[in-house]
Amino acid sequence: MDTALQSNDIRDVIEADRAHVWHHMSQHKPYETVDPKIYIEGKGMRVWDAAGREYLDAVSGGVWTVNVGFGRESIADAVRDQLVKLNYFANSAGSVPGALFAEKLISKMPGMSRVYYSNSGSEANEKVFKMVRQMAHRHHGGNKWKILYRERDYHGTTLATLAAAGQPQRREQYGPMPPGFVEVPHCLEYRGQYGDIDNYGERAADAIEAVILREGPDTVGLLCLEPVTAGGGVIVPPKGYWDRVQEICRRYDVLLHIDEVVCGVGRTGKWFGYQHFGVEPDFVTMAKGVASGYAAISCTVTTEKIFNLFKDDPSDPMSFFRDISTFGGCVAGPAAALENMRIIEDENLLENVTAMGERLLANLRVLQEKHPVIGEVRGLGLFCGAELVADRSTKQPVTEPEVQAVIAGCLAEGVIIGATNRSLPGLNNTLCLSPALIATPTDIDAITAAIDIALAKVFG
Ligand SMILES: Cc1ncc(COP(=O)(O)O)c(C=O)c1O
Repeated sequence: MDTALQSNDIRDVIEADRAHVWHHMSQHKPYETVDPKIYIEGKGMRVWDAAGREYLDAVSGGVWTVNVGFGRESIADAVRDQLVKLNYFANSAGSVPGALFAEKLISKMPGMSRVYYSNSGSEANEKVFKMVRQMAHRHHGGNKWKILYRERDYHGTTLATLAAAGQPQRREQYGPMPPGFVEVPHCLEYRGQYGDIDNYGERAADAIEAVILREGPDTVGLLCLEPVTAGGGVIVPPKGYWDRVQEICRRYDVLLHIDEVVCGVGRTGKWFGYQHFGVEPDFVTMAKGVASGYAAISCTVTTEKIFNLFKDDPSDPMSFFRDISTFGGCVAGPAAALENMRIIEDENLLENVTAMGERLLANLRVLQEKHPVIGEVRGLGLFCGAELVADRSTKQPVTEPEVQAVIAGCLAEGVIIGATNRSLPGLNNTLCLSPALIATPTDIDAITAAIDIALAKVFG
């Protein structure tokens, strides 16, 4: 660690934080007696806290974001150069990095053609919902306004995206929710709802069709899905699922929105998660890894066909997408995103993700043989989960304090891991791993070695 802060300054920072900062997703009572955690510096996959302690970060900045690792001077330089040239103009006008990044991004997304900039995953998703509602008014005579989302998926923290949350604990106490959001069943075979069948993926997709038929196909405009469910338990849809989903969407003229906020820009070993499955979405949203947290940026990407619906009648003053995101005009975002993408290409990080992801899964499977508490291991690329169960035959989940004890055990070993958190009652029992795309074999082995020790400590 190379910090200019002296210990007295750090004490002041901690006290200022304790007195004035309201942390995300945090119960603050413990901070009355325990110092809040403050990270001070990062390099590669390592971060240092206020006490100077070093950690290996297996969750890319806590919430699967810092995909190219910490301390990237070339991204900082690109952002700085852009900021001193022109830091901002409202995105009703264009910008140099905005245009160049859109072109570069679209080159990775055959079939897509338009990029709408905003600042967070929630915002990017909400833009899609607004587009769908506007299309319902303008093109479907007020029909096709319902938005389907899947049990266990998450799409953000605003009220509309919470209404689309398949994670009841995220929503609880924040109602009433906006109307028109309808849940379809999850597709996690390990927690199978359809018995022990061969074609689980197709069966799970058919459950979506049943919801469309129940609601009335003329009322349903959009199906919003994560390519691999993230915070709902790292769920890779079973074989056959996506083909059938696409077929159903086409049959009932339901637009398909893939939320790539976590999986997008390399996390799964392809540029986008959906590209593993051969699906052709109508909307794709992304945020976190787009600029690896070096600047705030999110993108709502769609096809020329959808885009054209918003310019079909220039004489109608209400026909265009009447939406704005002030900071969607911050050019630090696309400037950082361009450099982020260059790094992924030049350092062959997609290939690294595939190789290291296989190593991570293989290591976790070895741990599964050793620790009966690991009920299932799943993942795609550098995005893996291990579901912990008290009893393999009944699949009864372990308790949340036990899961938290495993996380604390890893932290004691100097490794930061995550777990499903305040998502599904009784099912916050999956350890989550999303190391940076630059992870080496040594990093991967260190992560699973820490989990091994922590599991032994907590479960014997
Ligand atoms: C799949 C998914 N979509 C959307 C979001 C919301 O993104 P943000 O927190 O940037 O609003 C998240 C955040 O974790 C996410 O995991």
